[in-house]
Amino acid sequence: MPITHLPLNKSASSDPWEDFANVFRRGQLPLPQGWAEVFGPLRKGAVDDLVIVGQIGQSLDGRIATESGHSKYINGPAGLVHLHRLRALVDAVIVGVGTAIADDPQLTVRQVSGPQPARVVIDPNGRLCASARVFADDGVRRLLVTSEGTRGRAPAGVEIIALPEVDGKISPSAILLALAGCGMRRMLIEGGANTVSRFLAAGCLDRLHVMVAPIILGAGGPGLILPPLERADQASRMPVRVHKIDDDVLFDCDLSDQRVALGVAKKSM
Ligand SMILES: NC(=O)c1ccc[n+]([C@@H]2O[C@H](COP(=O)([O-])OP(=O)(O)OC[C@H]3O[C@@H](n4cnc5c(N)ncnc54)[C@H](OP(=O)(O)O)[C@@H]3O)[C@@H](O)[C@H]2O)c1
Repeated sequence: MPITHLPLNKSASSDPWEDFANVFRRGQLPLPQGWAEVFGPLRKGAVDDLVIVGQIGQSLDGRIATESGHSKYINGPAGLVHLHRLRALVDAVIVGVGTAIADDPQLTVRQVSGPQPARVVIDPNGRLCASARVFADDGVRRLLVTSEGTRGRAPAGVEIIALPEVDGKISPSAILLALAGCGMRRMLIEGGANTVSRFLAAGCLDRLHVMVAPIILGAGGPGLILPPLERADQASRMPVRVHKIDDDVLFDCDLSDQRVALGVAKKSM
């Protein structure tokens, strides 16, 4: 399996990342060298015109947080830059309410240049308070996905998407279709484990970026939570590309074979 080494930093005189991201968004010209290997697969959907990427930053022993829920920062600085590059290339960043409460993330692009994606929280029971940083009124679209009949506590200006629950869960496909209806084409499911796992189990991811840091946490939350298997040979296996990002190793998993068709036709720009 070939391992590529990605460029880490902006050059002093110009910003090759900005050039790359501009070409990426325009969608017609071939991508310049540099990040094409890792971000090229996110340019166009393999199954339909939506591109859905999940991400997990985990330790060598497969944990995304300590037992107390602390996860800043499992990955090194270059891994964090990679996450911000992902954010800069998508229309929307989606997190579960567990992450919004535990980490109070801003979900903005700060480590690289690029436009700010819309911020989406899935909070079926209205648990997130109005002062959460994802709801900050900074000119960026903010959306709350909740269950029908739930009275959320989102501040004015936050768009509410109320969807039905089936067996206590909102269907990930229904969430993506609703967001596509709001103009989102490329979407990043940024965490946590519970949320990424639901999208994965529902066949709603095109790619999964697993960024492995050379640390051992020993205990704490797992990266994915899926139904148990009887035997190891029943495990799902997928094509992967592997990239070395400073001390971290990125497994870019191609899930297009198991991705359900969501059927929306308009490209992200
Ligand atoms: N290392 C990393 O890459 C990374 C990234 C993000 C977060 N984290 C860590 O992960 C932990 C939080 O993860 P988590 O797994 O506990 O929580 P989470 O995935 O952030 O949020 C899970 C909750 O979101 C709601 N939800 C998500 N999808 C839903 C759906 N399809 N239908 C209905 N509800 C849905 C549910 O809320 P209800 O509970 O109200 O039903 C669910 O319990 C924190 O410790 C955080 O620091 C790590």
